Amino acid sequence: MSAALESHRPIHYGPRRHIASIRERLDALSFDRFEVVPQSPCLGAEVRGVDLGKPMDDALRAELERALVEYKVLFFRDQSITQAEHAAFAKRFGELEVHPFLPEGEAPEVIRFAKDEDVVGVENNWHSDVSWREIPSLGSVLRAYEVPAVGGDTLWTDMEAVYEGLPEDLKKEIDGRIAVHDFVHTFGLALSEEERAEKRKQFPPARHPIVRTHPVSGRKCLYVNTIFTSHVEGLPEDESRDLLKRLYHETEVPEYQVRFRWEKDSVAFWDNRSTQHYASSDYWPRHRVMERITIIGDRPA
Ligand code: SIN
Repeated sequence: MSAALESHRPIHYGPRRHIASIRERLDALSFDRFEVVPQSPCLGAEVRGVDLGKPMDDALRAELERALVEYKVLFFRDQSITQAEHAAFAKRFGELEVHPFLPEGEAPEVIRFAKDEDVVGVENNWHSDVSWREIPSLGSVLRAYEVPAVGGDTLWTDMEAVYEGLPEDLKKEIDGRIAVHDFVHTFGLALSEEERAEKRKQFPPARHPIVRTHPVSGRKCLYVNTIFTSHVEGLPEDESRDLLKRLYHETEVPEYQVRFRWEKDSVAFWDNRSTQHYASSDYWPRHRVMERITIIGDRPA
C-alpha cells in the first residue's frame, strides 16, 4: 500500500449492513395519534397531525416520547407557536435547562440563535449539547423564525448506529472507558481568565462513559464529540487523540445521518442522548433566527 493510502482514514466500501435491522425495527412501529413519515433509514421522521401549541394529554405525550426514542429526531412543519407554547411543550418532557453561556431569548430557558452578517453560525461541528455538564440534556426543541431561502440545514447523526457499526476490536477497546468533557475549548474561549475560573468552579470537567446506555431503550451508543470531549481518561495524549479521531471519523458517516431543510415555523425535537447534530453554516451573510428550549436529562451511564 502506498504511504498516501496508509495515512488515509480507513476506507469502507459497500453497504453498512446493520442499517437493515434498524430500518426493519422502525418499519414495524405504528402510532395512533399522528402520522409518521421517516426521513432517512436510521433516524429522523416528520410527524403530521400534531399541533404543538395545544395542550397535550398523557397518551399523546407518551406516543411522542416513544417516537422520539425510536426516531431520535422528530420534525414538525407549520407550527406558528408562541414562546410560551414552545416552553409548555418542552416542559411536558422534563425540567427546562438554563444555558450558562448562550444568548437568552425572552425567558432564561430560551436560547436565541440570531445569525446575520456580524453574528455568524458557529454550530457547524458535530456535537451533543452540553456534554460538559454532569447531567447533560435529554433533548431540545428548536423552532425556526427566519431561515434563508436555501442553506442553513441541520444534520443529525444516529450515535446508536455509529456504535453498532464499529469494528468489534474497537468496541472492545472503548468498553468501560471514560472520556472527559469540558466547556473551555468552546464557550471558555470567549471568557476572561477570571470568568473562566469562576465558571470552572460551577462546571468542572465531566467524566462520562464513552459507550452510554440509553435510559429508555436500553440500547448502547457512542458518547464522545468533537467540540466538548477533551480526552480519554487513562491514555497517553497521543493514544487518546488517535482513538478519538477514529471514533469521530465514524460519527461523520453519511449513512447514519438525516438532513433537515428548515422552513419558517418548522420545529425539530431531538433526543440528545442518542444523537449528535451539526448546523450547516453555509448561508452567510443571510439571516437565520432560531430558538431552542432544552430539557434536562440524566447522568450518562
Ligand atoms: C444547536 O447546535 O443546537 C443549533 C442547531 C441549529 O441552529 O440548527
